[in-house]
This record gives sequence, structure tokens and C-alpha cells, in this order.
Amino acid sequence: MRMRNENEIREDILKMVVELYNVREIEKKFIPGESKVNYAGRVFDEKEMVAVVDSALDFWLTLGKKGKEFCEKFSSYLGMKNCLVTNSGSSSNLVAVSALCSPTIKNPMKPGDEVITTAMTFPTTLNPIIQNRLIPVFIDIEEDTYNIDAAKIEAAITDKTRAIIFAHTLGNPAEMDKIMAIAKKHNLYVIEDTCDALDSKYDGEYCGTYGDFSTYSFYAAHHMTMGEGGAVCTNSMELYKAALSIRDWGRACFCQTGEADQAGACKNRFNFKFEGLPDGYDHKYVYNNIGYNLKPLDLQCAMGVEQIDKLPMFSEKRKHNFDVLYNCFKKYEDKFILPRALLKAEPSWFAIPLTVRANAGFTKKDFVTFLEDKKIETRMLFAGNILRQPGYKNIEHKVVGDLKNTDQVVERTFFLGVYPGMTEEKLEYITTQVDAFFSN
Ligand SMILES: Cc1ncc(COP(=O)(O)O)c(C=O)c1O
Repeated sequence: MRMRNENEIREDILKMVVELYNVREIEKKFIPGESKVNYAGRVFDEKEMVAVVDSALDFWLTLGKKGKEFCEKFSSYLGMKNCLVTNSGSSSNLVAVSALCSPTIKNPMKPGDEVITTAMTFPTTLNPIIQNRLIPVFIDIEEDTYNIDAAKIEAAITDKTRAIIFAHTLGNPAEMDKIMAIAKKHNLYVIEDTCDALDSKYDGEYCGTYGDFSTYSFYAAHHMTMGEGGAVCTNSMELYKAALSIRDWGRACFCQTGEADQAGACKNRFNFKFEGLPDGYDHKYVYNNIGYNLKPLDLQCAMGVEQIDKLPMFSEKRKHNFDVLYNCFKKYEDKFILPRALLKAEPSWFAIPLTVRANAGFTKKDFVTFLEDKKIETRMLFAGNILRQPGYKNIEHKVVGDLKNTDQVVERTFFLGVYPGMTEEKLEYITTQVDAFFSN
């Protein structure tokens, strides 16, 4: 028998992957009351499975051609000049904040500098501020957008303030025109944690395209996924180079993986001179930052390349699902504070946040446990007030004004999913159960 060549074997494997995908699709069936209604999950078709397996068969493994393709496609989708892929949204935040502290940039932040942020946060939006020995200065959020209250930023600015770092909460765009005007007036860096807001727009522009850096998460629950993964975008070449170095062990060389031939893509690999190092010391082994290794695998990027094409469809579905749940809860507006988007905002919702009113006659726990008993997943709005979390009891920080709305989130806010995998029958099941809670 003739030995099959690589292409033939690969073709067969990929055909079987498609077959496997189709078999699994047939087996999917939603049984109300029995099947779990997830708040989020990966949504994909045979294209992602084929792309990942194809990349695995290449067995290149580490960041390579798919990483490059992903970065080009992602930055061009957003209209950003530079994109760096990472292994998570948390890593992306670490890279962005650390890059703004890098001695390689013109005006780096230094230990003891202050960063305005919110205590209603995902931990790893805040953590890089602490890890870089900067001082977080917490201000309150708005009650119904759950975003940083832009009207409270200026009161928190001192001569030590260097940056404003915040997330567009659950896909709801923060007030970017006001925030950027304040940042410009006071010469502050802005990092937009866009991990939950990919594809959301403010004033016609994508969230993440306003600040110095934007960060993204491609964990399975997010707007698009690589399983795990993340990205950092910036329009500044100086910041991009610092971020690349921080991601890649702190090295000075910014030639991309695979580009470095004998002379390096820059043709200068052995031509640099650094104080303390021999003349022409290999640039690949010169470290101008204290960095990390936060790279993903190339096969994660292969998945990402396919997912970008689905983003517009995902966002349409998210908006639709949000509207269905919003209209359901609108009937109970006397019981819940409903989420609000600003006039200029076009959210691609990550989820629908709801706050049980103080006088609702039931508690968040009552409502959430009712839904969970019905197999409908609920989630807390992350850390709530992170200053009340055990790990954060002793962090050095400042609070300006009160954190009334932040505290309200801990006590009374939760969210439900609106991800594209939420089918009409699942939505109907949720709304029926919500109505049942109130009819009993
Ligand atoms: C606002 C925000 N920032 C950062 C992250 C961290 O992303 P990852 O889980 O990819 O590390 C998350 C995670 O969900 C998030 O919601």
C-alpha cells in the first residue's frame, strides 16, 4: 500500500474534526429545568476546531505565524496601530501598567505615584497598580452604569496623580469624552480595561481606542475566545515597544519571533553597545526592563483568527439577548435598578447587571438562590468593593469621597448572562422563572 503523504493525512484528520463537531451539535439539547443555563461560554463552529487542530499538527507550538496574523487582524478590526497578544486579560493589564512604569519610555510612572481607579473592580484591573508599587486612589462608580464616575475624577487629582485606569463595566462604555478631556488637561495616562467591552462603542469609536493602552481578555466567557488569552493595543510605538519587552522577559530586542535571522530582523543584532556589556552583545540577550513571559501559544491565536470574523454576529446576539432580559426586568423596575447606557454609548453587553432595590421586599441572596435552584447561572459583579475582600485588607491606598454605590454593588448587585450561546428557549426559560418568582 502506498504511504499517504502529509497533506493527505492532514486533510483526513481535518475532515474528521468537522465530522466530530457536527456529531456534537446533534447531541446538544436544552431541557428546561434540567439543563444548566450558563451565564457564558465559548461559542464556535467547526472552523475554530479545524484551525486549532491544523495549528497543532504544524507543531510549531510557540507564538509564530498565527500570532502575527491575529495581531494584524485584531488591530485592523479596531483601527489601532499596534497589538500585542498575551496569555490572558490579567497579563494584558500587567503588561500595560508595567510598560507605563518602564524606564525605556519618556515619562514613566514611579513607585508612590497615584492612579485613579474604582474599588468596584475585577481584581486584575487593580493588581498591576499594586504590583508596580503605585498607589490606587479609589473613587465611586455610578449607580446604574456601574462605571467610574467621571464627575468625581478631578477631586481625586493631586500632584502625584499619573494615570486613570478603569474597566468599561460589563461592556457598558464609560464616559470617554469627559475622561479623556480630564486626562489631557492634567497630563495623565489612561488605560481602558476593555476585557468585557470588545466591540462596544462610545461616540462612534470602539472602546479601547481612546486611551494610551487598551487591554482585552479572550477567556472562554468573553466576547470572543482563545480558551485563555488576551491582547494589549496602543497607537504609540514607544509604548508598544515597552509592552513587548515586558511581555517577553524584559528583553530589549523587538524583532518578532521567527524574524530574527543571523543579523536579526533589524539587521543590528550584534551592533548595539550597552554600558556594562561587551561591544555588540547579542541584542536578544539584552534586558532593558524587568519583565515576564506572558505569551500565549500559536494555536490559541489560530482560534482567535477565526473568532474575530464572528464578532459582529456575536455582538448582535448579545444586544438582542440583553434587550429580551431588560424588557423582562423592566416589569419589575420597582424591585431592581436597571442598567443604563450613556447616550453616546453602544454597548456590546458582556452581561446584564441588576441591583435589587433596598425596599424590594427580598434580598439579592433570595433572588439569586431562586434562579440557581432553577439551574440559571448568576454571577456577582466581580469583587464588589475590593477593599472589603480578604486579600486587600492591608493594601496602601486612598479613597476620595464615599464609595456608596460601590458598597451597594457588594450588597445588592448580581448579573445574568447574555452571551451568544443563550438561545431563545433558554431566554424564555429565564423570563418564565423570573415571572414565577414574582407570581408566587
Ligand atoms: C474587567 C476585567 N479585566 C480583566 C479580566 C481578566 O481577564 P483574564 O481572565 O483573561 O485574565 C477580567 C476577567 O474576566 C475582567 O472582567
